[in-house]
Amino acid sequence: MLAPRKRPLHLLIALSLLAFLLFVYRQSAHDLYAQLPSFPGLKSIADNAPANTTLGFGALVVVSKSGSSRRAGLLKAANVTDIELTIPTQPQWTEDDVNKFRSSEDSKMGRGSIYAWLGHHNALRWFLDSGLETALILEDDVDWDIQLRSVQVPLAATAVRSMLPPLRAPLSQSFSNPNLNPPSPQYWGDTTSWDLLYLGHCGDYFSSIDAGIGPGHHYPENLTSIPHKLYPDPSLPSRNDLHPFTASLFTAFNLPEHTRILHRSMFPLCTFGYAVTRPAAERLLSDLAPAKEPPQGIKDVARAFDVAILNACRKGAKTPSPTDPKTNPHPHPDPKQRGRYASAGLRCWTVNSELFHHMPGGSLIAQLEAEVKNFVGIPPVDAVGAEQVVARNETSNIGCGFWNGAFEFEEGDSERLAWLREEVGRKGRCLKVGRDGV
Ligand SMILES: *[C@@H]1O[C@H](CO)[C@@H](O)[C@H](O)[C@H]1NC(C)=O
Ligand SMILES: *[C@@H]1O[C@H](CO)[C@@H](O)[C@H](O)[C@H]1NC(C)=O
Ligand SMILES: *[C@@H]1O[C@H](CO)[C@@H](O)[C@H](O)[C@H]1NC(C)=O
Ligand SMILES: *[C@@H]1O[C@H](CO)[C@@H](O)[C@H](O)[C@H]1NC(C)=O
Repeated sequence: MLAPRKRPLHLLIALSLLAFLLFVYRQSAHDLYAQLPSFPGLKSIADNAPANTTLGFGALVVVSKSGSSRRAGLLKAANVTDIELTIPTQPQWTEDDVNKFRSSEDSKMGRGSIYAWLGHHNALRWFLDSGLETALILEDDVDWDIQLRSVQVPLAATAVRSMLPPLRAPLSQSFSNPNLNPPSPQYWGDTTSWDLLYLGHCGDYFSSIDAGIGPGHHYPENLTSIPHKLYPDPSLPSRNDLHPFTASLFTAFNLPEHTRILHRSMFPLCTFGYAVTRPAAERLLSDLAPAKEPPQGIKDVARAFDVAILNACRKGAKTPSPTDPKTNPHPHPDPKQRGRYASAGLRCWTVNSELFHHMPGGSLIAQLEAEVKNFVGIPPVDAVGAEQVVARNETSNIGCGFWNGAFEFEEGDSERLAWLREEVGRKGRCLKVGRDGV
């Protein structure tokens, strides 16, 4: 009776010893990094460290055509939140630009879709010309929560650093040559470990929305089988106040209330706000989303910029992130060398639910007021969220945002602006009727 029990015990001891040794080894490697604080950039970043005015990215770059009616409101919201936006000038796109983009005369791509594509390219090119390491690209009709900078970004960036730890690549270069500039602090983790962070989207429902969303379609293992991290965020609206699709997905995953997920992107929709690294921007411009419509007749190709990014993330979904620097997936930004990319796509991560969501459109509200329930011409995710948007008087999945105009101020009313910046922006008080004691 004894003999058969002994073997597993020995095995257990041996395995425990191995695990212990591995732990000690990893700890000491970890301590080694921690003991090298002489480069200011390499000090480890404390959990929930505050975000700077560009939210820890090199810049916040807005895609906005000149004369856009959304721009003034966007800049005011940014001012109250105390974040700094960069709006690169967009050329006036001409008939010629549109025709060059189209693959043939019978192209089905609309002018608006082409303009949007060219606008994103313009922002990506501005970023590459700037020499910055990362940028968050935003569309100009986005809304966000008043606690974006004070609460949401510090929590999201902490989650990213836990999955994609900083302090990897620079070791060999910087430590051997103290004259080299120290690398900048990696607020969003090691920027060689990821390509694209989806912070603003209209949902990452793990598959196409036609496949169904929520219990019966999604199971906890859909999440647990991929790299992910759950983290509490008190500023996330409660389950009932989340967009119905998001709420169903989170219920299927058994998520606690007020919990967000950072996970490898599965099926992220819309490009309201995405952060990119330089290699990712280069590949989007030249390789993964070039400014040229694919030839007619090919199925499953992108005829909208957000679909091109979705496809790029899906193609890269199996490429590990972090990736071993030796197999960096971006050795050749030159599209002629395309065959030499180690990854067919980008290593994307999604913050779910999103921190940026586009403002409810005028047509949506008009149709709702006209009691038109089939929401003609409105994207499906918006149509499903429409009634809740009106009932909550808030943008989908945003707790306390700017859309309903509660935090408006007159240009030049510096007194009200100073009050909004202090009470709403800095202290995070949602001073709307019926909220926060008002
Ligand atoms: C914000 O932090 C990032 C990451 O450390 C840095 O690259 C960027 O320059 C900073 N921006 C400002 C305005 O300080
Ligand atoms: C906010 O607006 C004031 C007044 O126009 C301006 O002086 C300040 O630079 C702005 N701040 C930000 C962060 O946009
Ligand atoms: C989710 O998990 C179920 C059960 O394991 C599986 O059948 C389904 O294909 C998964 N869906 C996705 C989108 O991965
Ligand atoms: C929505 O909020 C704004 C600003 O607080 C307010 O003026 C407006 O009356 C609200 N609308 C509804 C339908 O509650």
